[in-house]
Amino acid sequence: MKMQREHPAPPRPATSAMLESVLHAAPVIPVVVIHDVAHAAPLARALVAGGIPAIEVTLRTPAALDAVRAMSDVEGAIVGVGTARRPQDLEAARKAGARFAVSPGSTPALLAAAADGALPWLPGAATASEAMALADAGFVYQKFFPAEAAGGVAALRSLHGPLPEVRFCATGGISAGNARAYLAAPNVACVGGSWLTPASLMDAGDWAAIEALARAAARLHA
Ligand code: 3PG
Repeated sequence: MKMQREHPAPPRPATSAMLESVLHAAPVIPVVVIHDVAHAAPLARALVAGGIPAIEVTLRTPAALDAVRAMSDVEGAIVGVGTARRPQDLEAARKAGARFAVSPGSTPALLAAAADGALPWLPGAATASEAMALADAGFVYQKFFPAEAAGGVAALRSLHGPLPEVRFCATGGISAGNARAYLAAPNVACVGGSWLTPASLMDAGDWAAIEALARAAARLHA
């Protein structure tokens, strides 16, 4: 009789190494919503010039995958997708050239799809049980979401005692004002947030202002 695997295989070491390099590329991963693909390349150039190479393009707009393609041509950019909800999102992202994928949580289908390691995947957790289940499946890098609403820095510091090996990218409600406090937590590798790429600046084509926001974010090391 064929044995059924109870759990998805743990991610391959190369996958974890790639996630580690993404999470340590800079203190902040910008979470970007792109409506106009013409914004993609200049936005990526501004972020990279400001010292922020890893960029998460959310799969929330029809332009998202084209934006990933355009940004991936920008030298120095490490482009991934966010809001991956289903296995087909991972596959579409990989085909578009994404180098990592982020989800707000995790599902059995995503865990199974990510286990092949074709695209490094950062799953989301907001509770000890979720973080434990992901760690047991081999995912020591996790997105802590929604960070502020789920208890913020105090919650993350509390998780560090029982789950010392787990490292988080805290996202959701993070800004220039509170990012440093997150980055000072021993289990926070980086933070994610939308404050570097406001729609108003993108619509105005004010790439210099976005570069300035990126430059300030790159200096946020705790
Ligand atoms: C998201 O997926 O929307 C991110 O967590 C960004 O959250 P923020 O807009 O609160 O930074």
